[in-house]
Amino acid sequence: MSQSFETILVERRDRAAIITINRPDKRNALNIQTRAEGAAILDELRGDNSVRLVVLTGAGDKAFIAGADIAEFATRTAIAQREVMLDRSLFNVIDGFPKPIIAMVNGYCLGGGCEVALACDLRIASEKASFGQPEINLGIIPGGGGTQRLTRLVGEGKAMEMILTGEIIDAQTALAIGLVNHVVPADQLETKTMEIANRIADKSPIALRLAKEAVKLASRSNLDEGLRREVDLFALCFSSEDKDEGVKAFLEKRKAEFKGM
Ligand code: COA
Repeated sequence: MSQSFETILVERRDRAAIITINRPDKRNALNIQTRAEGAAILDELRGDNSVRLVVLTGAGDKAFIAGADIAEFATRTAIAQREVMLDRSLFNVIDGFPKPIIAMVNGYCLGGGCEVALACDLRIASEKASFGQPEINLGIIPGGGGTQRLTRLVGEGKAMEMILTGEIIDAQTALAIGLVNHVVPADQLETKTMEIANRIADKSPIALRLAKEAVKLASRSNLDEGLRREVDLFALCFSSEDKDEGVKAFLEKRKAEFKGM
């Protein structure tokens, strides 16, 4: 990596980049520096063709991310807080990242941490993980997309309950309401996540990018517009060598070798 970071770790594992939020003594709470470093590393990985996808996790065995760094809230003015949220929001950088991002949720996934997980494309959780939007207990509301992304993912009733009560739910409950894709024992979290990551990494990076864009349209456009744009993105796949390779490999009964061209 060309930059050095203090609050995150970055590791390459085959075709995946693993970003670890590294403030375990603060339960990986997101301070301004962590948000900036997270956005900066994603900018770097965006253009790195050897990286097919990103896995995001938290250091230690207790927390994925226990939310925004509450200590920073103590003296911040409303205007300063608004600027922090609008200025290259990490949530939006994750959301707009052109490659798949998997949240590997190893523990507390609260507040801004839950919002980070919600901005990712898939969420794989350890049985020890727990989820919540406890902002209401601080006299505030979710500000990193929680009211919007959680509601779109689990429906208004469940989202409203979590946001109004601030209740923390366990991993199995998160699975039951559709907040996470899979729940596995803690010692299998990395294996399961990398298994899914490798399955995704085998696909055409171009098709992955267009598929991600098309799926995200579903909650951001009306049905007619979404269907229309899906056709355009589908047709765009036909301009790639990967599409030729995929079709040819099927007809030749062999595994496709996608190059992202
Ligand atoms: N912001 C800042 N510091 C945080 C933090 C956060 N969101 N979450 C945890 N920490 C800090 C604690 O202040 C403590 O620091 P200290 O050792 O300097 O006192 C350290 O991390 C360990 O936290 P602790 O509460 O002792 O750990 P725990 O394992 O018993 O409990 C939590 C973990 C996550 C349940 C608890 O820390 C918590 O409720 N955190 C706040 C969650 C939250 O409200 N998030 C939404 C923020 S908008």
